[in-house]
Amino acid sequence: MQFELSVNPLDQISGDAILIFAYQTERHPKLFSGFNKLSIKLQSDLTKAIETARFTAKRGETLDFYVQRDSLVKSVIVLGLGKKEEFVVDDLRRAVGVLSQKKRDKLASIALELPGESEIPTSKEEAAGIIVEGFMLGGYEFDRYKAKDKDNKILSTIIISEKNSDLVKNSIKKAEIYCRATFLARDLVNEQAAVATPTYLADLAVGIAKKDPKHIFCKVLDRKEAERSGMEAFLGVARASDTEPKFIHLEYRPDKKSKRKLALVGKGITFDSGGINVKTGDGMIDMKMDMSGAAIVLGVFSVISGIKPDFSVMGIIAATPNMVSGNSLVPGDVVRALNGKTIEILNTDAEGRVTMADSLSFAVKNGASEVIDFATLTGACMVALGTDIAGLFSNNRELAERIKRAAFDAGEKVWELPLEKDYRELNKSEVADIANIPNTRYGGAITAALFLQEFVKDLPWAHLDIAGPAFSAKATDLSPKGGTGHGVRTVLNLLI
Ligand code: BES
Ligand code: MN
Ligand code: ZN
Repeated sequence: MQFELSVNPLDQISGDAILIFAYQTERHPKLFSGFNKLSIKLQSDLTKAIETARFTAKRGETLDFYVQRDSLVKSVIVLGLGKKEEFVVDDLRRAVGVLSQKKRDKLASIALELPGESEIPTSKEEAAGIIVEGFMLGGYEFDRYKAKDKDNKILSTIIISEKNSDLVKNSIKKAEIYCRATFLARDLVNEQAAVATPTYLADLAVGIAKKDPKHIFCKVLDRKEAERSGMEAFLGVARASDTEPKFIHLEYRPDKKSKRKLALVGKGITFDSGGINVKTGDGMIDMKMDMSGAAIVLGVFSVISGIKPDFSVMGIIAATPNMVSGNSLVPGDVVRALNGKTIEILNTDAEGRVTMADSLSFAVKNGASEVIDFATLTGACMVALGTDIAGLFSNNRELAERIKRAAFDAGEKVWELPLEKDYRELNKSEVADIANIPNTRYGGAITAALFLQEFVKDLPWAHLDIAGPAFSAKATDLSPKGGTGHGVRTVLNLLI
């Protein structure tokens, strides 16, 4: 999808449609200033059409008006943004996302005018970026395995009637980068487990580093090397699988040396069958998504050279499927993590925290000054917060607030849950330093987070449980069914 600036006024741009935004009000929808650029005749025809159709301008609601006479303009689309009193900038992103999905294979180009500061509570350049994100995120499709419909138009050009401004251009460029990173994460999550194997993820990481060898370093450990370095927890989970596990270590270093080193740790279970504690059929249908945390890390690293953070960033992924075999871990087994702590395996379906015990330890051992992990960790987090909201846990107030801010700006929902100290004893083991499941089914997202905390020492750390929002069972405003890339744009906001 291309975004072009045009100095021409809206009604003198040739395109398949002109887009006009509108707020919902008690009576007639309040049309944005683009409307005033239309001819008087078109204005009055459109006003009538809005009345006839009883168009109310709810967020994402559209009205298509086809222009009869010869004109550069073929049609006008009015797009509802909901009520002005309730409006937040994300409503614009979501409304445009809905439009983009609707028109993806109906129109080739759309022209629009950026909303001004008197219309929405943000600058023109930020609005440009938000609109780009709406169009791109909403237009995403995973169609690798589908027959192509050649005759359809593809929405490929968005023309913005705006004077040539560097601020607007840069904002568009940044939004495009954010979306490309999100698309990579979505592709990886949507890809079948037979293709998106640990080796596939590792090769991708190596390829990313190759593109910018001056700033990005990548080292991949195979089973033997991971064994030599003492990752018994990760390898315990990997033991049951015939596919080679990979431990991926990416590192971005800025031109100017920096003491600060942020580690991004992603859960990388390429398929979660549950292991010997095998899941039900329904329970494992979508479990190719159990590497969504890893997908965030790889999505971010794929664009990090374009973001250029002024501090170091590590990307760490312990990648393996969690399979059933004669060689699986079984309840009662004890494994020793990289930091020396022993873990009693009581349920092989609580595998994510076991692999992450090693990846978090690795982050600490390799000089991280701050750690954020992303994991489709618990069904319990979905019970607590539903499917759309990620659970946030942190031992550091400042970091937690920074993440909330970044997530809000990205329109990616998070809600903080407590790292309740009194619940630590629930993870106690009779035979090892800690057990991989608690002795109660209540508070499962919290006890899982408390487990992870054992492996980050006292570093500022945050954990995002993305079990709900990483994968959507139905299309949402900004994503079709499947991988969402939820978290990618939050992280990118933390890097700038
Ligand atoms: N990958 C799952 C969590 C999950 C469930 C993610 C549903 C997305 C959708 C994780 O490995 C798991 O199986 N967790 C168990 C933990 C339990 C055994 C303590 C769970 O949540 O049931
Ligand atoms: Mn599991
Ligand atoms: Zn899992």
